[in-house]
Amino acid sequence: MKILLLGKGGQVGWELQRALAPLGELVALDHDSTDWFADFSQPERLADTVAAIRPDVVVNAAAHTAVDKAESEVDLARRINAEAPAVLAKAAADLGALLVHYSTDYVFDGSGAAARDESAPTAPLSVYGRTKLEGEEAIARAGGAYLILRTSWVYAARGGNFAKTMLRLGKERDRLTVIDDQVGAPTGAELLADATAHAIRATLQDRSKSGLYHLVAGGETSWNGYARFVLEQARALGVEIKAVAVDAVPTTAFATPAQRPLNSRLDTTKFQQAFGLVLPHWQAGVERMLRETLS
Ligand SMILES: NC(=O)c1ccc[n+]([C@@H]2O[C@H](COP(=O)([O-])OP(=O)(O)OC[C@H]3O[C@@H](n4cnc5c(N)ncnc54)[C@H](OP(=O)(O)O)[C@@H]3O)[C@@H](O)[C@H]2O)c1
Repeated sequence: MKILLLGKGGQVGWELQRALAPLGELVALDHDSTDWFADFSQPERLADTVAAIRPDVVVNAAAHTAVDKAESEVDLARRINAEAPAVLAKAAADLGALLVHYSTDYVFDGSGAAARDESAPTAPLSVYGRTKLEGEEAIARAGGAYLILRTSWVYAARGGNFAKTMLRLGKERDRLTVIDDQVGAPTGAELLADATAHAIRATLQDRSKSGLYHLVAGGETSWNGYARFVLEQARALGVEIKAVAVDAVPTTAFATPAQRPLNSRLDTTKFQQAFGLVLPHWQAGVERMLRETLS
């Protein structure tokens, strides 16, 4: 089996390089790859890459993820998040290949307090959310087999992340101020990559599993709760944390160009049942990531 991975250097892409390797021959590309063209800012050229490599599975981990910047880079965000996935979906469908793509809780407006399932109405608040939704719709229209995996609050051991920022600030400052009215589930890139590999195998065996799924870690927290957990864990691991409190403020305390959903809860029942997997609670992955980065 041949797998084409796009966006190999991102948080999820990096972990996918590891998790997909045992499934078959892996061709992993980024926008500056020289062997094959893989720059999503020129979507039309991606079709030739897929046609030439002839993969059985295309996994797209590339995206314009700079949520605030997207508000002023609408055309670029649309090319990367909507037009490029549309080209990939058509090229994959032409080959009979499975397309795996990631989307986001930002396709919702985040009203209410209930966890949303895959049938909940979408209503994005931002350019990022809107263009990601357009990408989803284009993939569904293309007519091939696909897995669209909507996730939220992604972190990885590699590169910067919210937990590492809280650790740095916690060592420097007496108190931190973190919003407490956005609720979701921090989800590790490691978990996403491993769950993706399982889902690919199952879908190749049974194409009726093709479709849209919510995929996040179990449980829920606010950014404030996430920050407090990180500092508690760091203390338990012997790190000297100066911050004595993490003060709670509403989202409105920090003005940002893009509006974020307050309720990012996603119901993952469909994914867990379709693939026979259990999604561990968010604390397990964050604790593991902290142990890895602090030891
Ligand atoms: N991060 C989150 O909290 C979050 C939440 C929900 C859903 N998601 C979704 O999960 C998926 C993976 O996200 P992530 O957190 O791994 O994102 P990430 O770390 O920002 O990685 C994005 C990848 O896309 C690549 N990319 C950007 N512009 C490109 C272009 N013009 N051509 C080709 N590649 C390009 C980046 O390459 P360079 O780094 O070299 O530019 C990087 O490899 C995305 O679909 C995202 O929308 C993420």
